[in-house]
Amino acid sequence: MLNREANQRMCRVGPGEAMGRALRRYWLPFLLASELAAGDDPRGVELLGERFVAWRDARGRPGLFAEGCLHRGASLRLARAEEDGLRCIYHGWKFGVDGAVLDTPNVADPRFKERIRGRAFPVQEAGGLLWAYLGPREQQPEFPRWPWMDIDSDHRLVTRHVEECNFVQVIEGLVDSSHLGLLHMNGLKQSGGTDLGFARKVNSMQRNLAPRLEVQDTEFGFYYAAIRAIEDRTEARVAAYIAPCTILNPNGDIATFAVPLGDTRTAFIHVFWSDSEPLNREPVRTRHLEFIGLSPAVLDGFGLTEATIGRADRPNPANNFLQDRAAMRRGESWSGLPGLIEEDVAASVSAGPVRQRADEVLSASDIGISRLYRTLLACADAVERGEPPPGVRFDPATVVGTHGVIDGRSWRDLLPQAQGQEAAA
Ligand code: FES
Ligand SMILES: [Fe+2]
Repeated sequence: MLNREANQRMCRVGPGEAMGRALRRYWLPFLLASELAAGDDPRGVELLGERFVAWRDARGRPGLFAEGCLHRGASLRLARAEEDGLRCIYHGWKFGVDGAVLDTPNVADPRFKERIRGRAFPVQEAGGLLWAYLGPREQQPEFPRWPWMDIDSDHRLVTRHVEECNFVQVIEGLVDSSHLGLLHMNGLKQSGGTDLGFARKVNSMQRNLAPRLEVQDTEFGFYYAAIRAIEDRTEARVAAYIAPCTILNPNGDIATFAVPLGDTRTAFIHVFWSDSEPLNREPVRTRHLEFIGLSPAVLDGFGLTEATIGRADRPNPANNFLQDRAAMRRGESWSGLPGLIEEDVAASVSAGPVRQRADEVLSASDIGISRLYRTLLACADAVERGEPPPGVRFDPATVVGTHGVIDGRSWRDLLPQAQGQEAAA
């Protein structure tokens, strides 16, 4: 439970807000690398309640600019794309992706351009994603180099979709193991009959609907463990929450990011990887996306792309997400929704654009939720005090999502640190 004031503090992402200032202290993924090709037109991007323009120059270098031109604010979405820079159509000032001002044709003094700098932000390309840092230059943290960024791109599958709600309620579904066997009941049943690696790892969850949950604070956020007695063994599924918006899924081969575009719109990015399967090559790619519900047809049909979000002819709260009540009555579908992603979207978005938390009734199943609130508010508090927030200083190589049979051991023994200690002992 959070009172109205604390809820707003946690959820508001604009530049003048406490959480907005905290969010600007991290590297955030803002597009798939494949969504921005050299030679493309400049592309409007919304991030943390502000408007930007993304573009790649002819050498393939990605850039992210404040939308308004440095000179007098005309939109750089309208800019001419030249080999080495974006040229504003109003007076022709030209900006390189690093912010260098390359030309100011309406100013006689050729040295004028050397004294000014375009509003371009630091961008990194890694793991099939483009990342930006929007905060103060002097506080720019080290770029988090995750091990999956070095995997061959054939073995890594990256997707992005948009949801019409605040980012916190998207993350909530990722530290809430007990909804899996209920909301996703149909998907879990089907997972028994397929050989997809993803499906095999989640299949047993349906056999215990009330897992025992434990959380442990870390320098990056917290670990969240769901422990289930299943037949004669005990299984643990451990997710890592890395502040402010990264989750490593217990499957051990999925990273997700719930990146706030504005207060009521969130980009949800999935990275799947596999050492053995070429996930990004057909036919595996399409089968994988279809099973999870992230295929282009599903995203388009459910209104989860920039082109379709908010359209009245797509599933949305006003039409009950086109829930199939007849299938529910026939006992064929628990949720009346077609797949895992649609179920998660309906659950998150139906709670309202910014979910109110003053009158919610949390239970023992929600310790991940209350820890999430606490950690996010700690990020805002730390930045306000002038301290680095959780999740800006940590070693990504030591953080995992994982699962396994624990039988009498602690779930902490599944973490690489524990295994390192065992090896040393
Ligand atoms: S407003 Fe862009 S060059 Fe003048
Ligand atoms: Fe879910």
